[in-house]
Amino acid sequence: MKRACLLAVALTLAATVPRAAAPTITIDASAPAGRVSPLLYGLMTEEINHSYDGGLYAELIRNRAFLDDGTSPAHWSTVHRDGAAAAISLDPTQALNAAMATSLRLEVTQASPGHQAGVANEGYWGIPVRPNTRYRASFFAKAAPGFTGPITAAIESEDGKTVYATGRVTRLTQTWKQYDVALTSSAVEPTARARFVLTTDRPGTIWFTLVSLFPPTYRNQANGFRPDLLQMLIDMRPKFLRFPGGNYLEGDQIADRFDWKKTLGPLSERAGHMAPWGYRSTDGLGLHEFLLWAEDMNAEPVLAVYAGYSLKGAYVKPGPDLEPYIQDALDEIEYVTGPTASRWGSLRARAGHPAPFKLAYVEVGNEDFFDRSGSYDQRFAQFNTAIKARYPHLQVMSTVGFEHPENQRVRSVTPDVVDEHYYRTVEAFLNAARGHYDKYDRKGPKIFVGEWGAYETPFEPWNPRSRGEAPTPNMRAAIGDAAWMTEMERNADLVIMHGYAPLLVNVSPGARQWRPNLIGYDALRVYGSPSYHAIKLFATHLGDEILKASATETDVLVSATRDSRSRTLYVKLVNPTAAAAPVQLALSGAALRPSGTALTLAGDPRDTNSIDDLERVVPRTSQVTGVKSGLTYTIPANGIAVLELSLQ
Ligand code: AHR
Repeated sequence: MKRACLLAVALTLAATVPRAAAPTITIDASAPAGRVSPLLYGLMTEEINHSYDGGLYAELIRNRAFLDDGTSPAHWSTVHRDGAAAAISLDPTQALNAAMATSLRLEVTQASPGHQAGVANEGYWGIPVRPNTRYRASFFAKAAPGFTGPITAAIESEDGKTVYATGRVTRLTQTWKQYDVALTSSAVEPTARARFVLTTDRPGTIWFTLVSLFPPTYRNQANGFRPDLLQMLIDMRPKFLRFPGGNYLEGDQIADRFDWKKTLGPLSERAGHMAPWGYRSTDGLGLHEFLLWAEDMNAEPVLAVYAGYSLKGAYVKPGPDLEPYIQDALDEIEYVTGPTASRWGSLRARAGHPAPFKLAYVEVGNEDFFDRSGSYDQRFAQFNTAIKARYPHLQVMSTVGFEHPENQRVRSVTPDVVDEHYYRTVEAFLNAARGHYDKYDRKGPKIFVGEWGAYETPFEPWNPRSRGEAPTPNMRAAIGDAAWMTEMERNADLVIMHGYAPLLVNVSPGARQWRPNLIGYDALRVYGSPSYHAIKLFATHLGDEILKASATETDVLVSATRDSRSRTLYVKLVNPTAAAAPVQLALSGAALRPSGTALTLAGDPRDTNSIDDLERVVPRTSQVTGVKSGLTYTIPANGIAVLELSLQ
């Protein structure tokens, strides 16, 4: 018989609470109920809400290749100081190459020293200026006969009155050449009310393309990531990165899919493409950058390959028509994992990464339950066979989970893993947290909850009426999220991975397409929502063993895990009620050491963080002393608690 004695440990925290009133949380530590999947917590990402362009991808120039708008150079304007005169237009007759299929023509008709004329870019809702910072500007340019420069590149205030950083380029010729210039700011006050300008002090005609401005990036990688945003993600200690989507994988039409081969190589060869969320992607963050991003986080890629279905309903017939897409997926896997002697592996090596990237999971498509033609079953089977034949060690994932009717799922083969998406109200998640996965067949496919998120309001993320609402979730939503995580943790042998979605949102006016989102930012600042903090708390306090845990006669939700090496017990408690909830922990099968730590996240249900109030709701840490036989702990009202307790 298992060790029967219940160690009742009274915490001083709960001294005022009458013991008899506290409902019991039972945790059985005599033997693990399962292994926690080592990849449980990870990230899902795609280009939505200006996640990359205007977000994680550190490029500061918006519409750098002048391809965002067919008729006029969007986000660019002329600059003419005191009587100088200039005009700008798009000039497809002066293209750098097929990818940079147009250029910006700047015609300066009047300018002189002190009276410059030129062109300004507004950035992605401003250009962030930080003190003592080195920016790297670059552009392709050529000039009409008679003009050789100089061109001044500068970061200046929106009204042009304050110059924050400046540099000069000379010797322009009549052929395209790339110019680089470093701009360094002095001890200025940080601001995003700035623009980037290219000006000259004499008349002439100049063409520009691929105008770029990078601030310092994470680890100073070229074409790299915004450090503050990437750090927020690293702090979550994600074990995987699912990319490139989401709808972004599929595109509205087949031609708009994430065509990974077009996202490789020099930026001047990347035309970008129309993304499904209403704006063009530069593809500056392409396949190779996704892989580096995962590596920077010490996470492994979960590679979603295009499966022949796009959002507006077009699909590729299974059979011979699908073969080119399957070959594309095999090539993509070769790019990620192939030896340097292979065709695609050699391209990866040439891009600076001779070592193969780790890859264990490949996902075929995204949300293919929307394909009402019913073709997914056969499309999946065709991909699965080809991938397994060439890469037998890979786990292949279907995008239709068990929450969909039987006839929409993959039936002709058994996928290794199925991806389930749950966007639910808080109440629905509170219900689901009481045994959603109990009914699942433990011998069936593993579950990847590739997208999930709780809503404080009914689910209508893209409804224009929701535009006035906060871009990120409030404390009440974090309660729903935490409850759902307890369910996934209790079943972390079956649910092998999960990731909240969407991950990122630029909160500037007009930048977002969806709500709520996990992490908000503008050009200068970044914050985590209460849900971000809840996920980070859960992900960074996780062992390798699942312990059987249950709560009776209480609204509190619980999960318990143990780190078998450090002998640490993690107990996650979620109190969805408006009153503090004392609970008595009844632990069997192990004894506790006398002190521990409680990490709590609580607040008014409507409380949230925002770009002007970055840390209204953040976790608090307290020591738990006097842990001894009989443990009563009071979870704050509308609160989440993670108890970190040492086992003897
Ligand atoms: O996360 C936002 C969208 O929700 C994803 O692109 C799609 O997969 C899902 O419908």
